[in-house]
Amino acid sequence: MNNRRSPLARLQSYAPVKTPVIEAQAEGRITRSVGLTLEAVGLNVSIGRQCEVITADKRRIEAEVVGFSGDKVFLMPIKNIDGLQPGARVVPVSAQAGIRIGPQLLGRVINGIGQPIDNKGPLVGDEFLDFIPREINPLQRHPISEPLDVGIRAINALITVGRGQRLGLFAGSGVGKSVLMGMMTRFTTADVVVVGLVGERGREVKEFIDHILGEEGMRRAVVVASPADDAPLMRLRASQLSSRVAEHYRDKGKNVLLLMDSLTRFAQAQREIALAIGEPPATKGYPPSVFAKIPQLVERAGNAAANEGSITAFYTVLTEGDDLQDPIADSARAILDGHVVLSRRLAEEGIYPAIDVEASISRAMQNIVAEDHVKMMQRFKQLLSRYQQNRDLISIGAYTPGADPETDMAIERFPHLRAFIQQGLREPVHLSEAINHLQSLLKVTPPPAARGASPLAAQHKKL
Ligand SMILES: Nc1ncnc2c1ncn2[C@@H]1O[C@H](COP(=O)(O)OP(=O)(O)OP(=O)(O)O)[C@@H](O)[C@H]1O
Ligand SMILES: [Mg+2]
Repeated sequence: MNNRRSPLARLQSYAPVKTPVIEAQAEGRITRSVGLTLEAVGLNVSIGRQCEVITADKRRIEAEVVGFSGDKVFLMPIKNIDGLQPGARVVPVSAQAGIRIGPQLLGRVINGIGQPIDNKGPLVGDEFLDFIPREINPLQRHPISEPLDVGIRAINALITVGRGQRLGLFAGSGVGKSVLMGMMTRFTTADVVVVGLVGERGREVKEFIDHILGEEGMRRAVVVASPADDAPLMRLRASQLSSRVAEHYRDKGKNVLLLMDSLTRFAQAQREIALAIGEPPATKGYPPSVFAKIPQLVERAGNAAANEGSITAFYTVLTEGDDLQDPIADSARAILDGHVVLSRRLAEEGIYPAIDVEASISRAMQNIVAEDHVKMMQRFKQLLSRYQQNRDLISIGAYTPGADPETDMAIERFPHLRAFIQQGLREPVHLSEAINHLQSLLKVTPPPAARGASPLAAQHKKL
């Protein structure tokens, strides 16, 4: 019988046999569904494993293993689970999840599991990108040593961002986070911009893409969007996929700007999942796993080895009711290398971008810019804060010019300081231009003391 086979087939039969590794894939059954969670029995799977739940009408719903208790396995579906019946089959998926990637991904909008949602057809690309985070040995990370131009005057000059730095963008709702992120996407000198829109209103996603980013912004951007009505797992995945896409381009040697809006919504998605599987809430309703997930996400940005690219990241953090003590804000501030605070007061005065320079800080700035530049930044902040301290006196006319030379100077310069922060929506301000402007703004005028100012003590007596 063997002789009837072709010579090639015979030869092949002598080749060393590669036995495919076949795991025993036990099927499970859904036994319970409470809130967002599904419970199944009969599965032999580990945490993080993807499964498919098969409904009565033969739909397959992707779900992820998020925990277990005894022989019960907890699953979290990635989409709506309408039509699920008790005893539904659960099948572990063995194919590696991932997306096609290449330069063609630029300009595309995808959801948390990498499906295109922009009606521009399937994703194309020469490479396959799995969803497994890339691990970097912390000792091999290249230090932050060069600035990244984000095209925003106040940030470039006063809160200079380094390549590979991770910053928070702290603001209440409606203060201008999205608009500022759109400006950075259009103006930055980074090679690629990855925007993660997580947990925003659906309408806003479209508005951000069509109006704020526009064609110009989309040209070198990839948007990963998961609006608020997506299942929490989808929102979580969208944050992780944005980091994954950024990692891919960094590995290709690109300088990537990752803008994640918002870290708070990511934390809230994790909270929903953790509470649903029975983790007890700890701080302000957030279970401990939330505070473990934030560093895991944030640590994926940053620099890789010296000859590779970088991921500079901005994570927006909602400070509800402008409360900077929110646990997510607190935890983010501890792990990030700086923060840009947007102030409602400035926005209400019509100062956009509403960057509160005094409250913002870039922890990497000292290492990446010239000493003179740091001094100018400090001088700017001193003048601004001197004005703010005396603001009430000045506004009611209780301050006598000449009483304190520093305050006089702050008053004289204040309109320029304000104007420095303001920037038009379509007006990029590059790094060197921003530094030159700062320099000319602070050019020393004759100190008021030389003009015979009376000491501050005298002023106090008058009051
Ligand atoms: N640079 C700007 N110039 C003029 N107006 C601006 C600017 N930035 C923000 N605004 C105004 O503030 C509004 C809210 O901005 P934006 O949507 O960016 O806020 P947000 O912080 O992202 O809000 P949300 O918390 O709802 O996501 C805009 O619709 C616009 O009217
Ligand atoms: Mg927004």
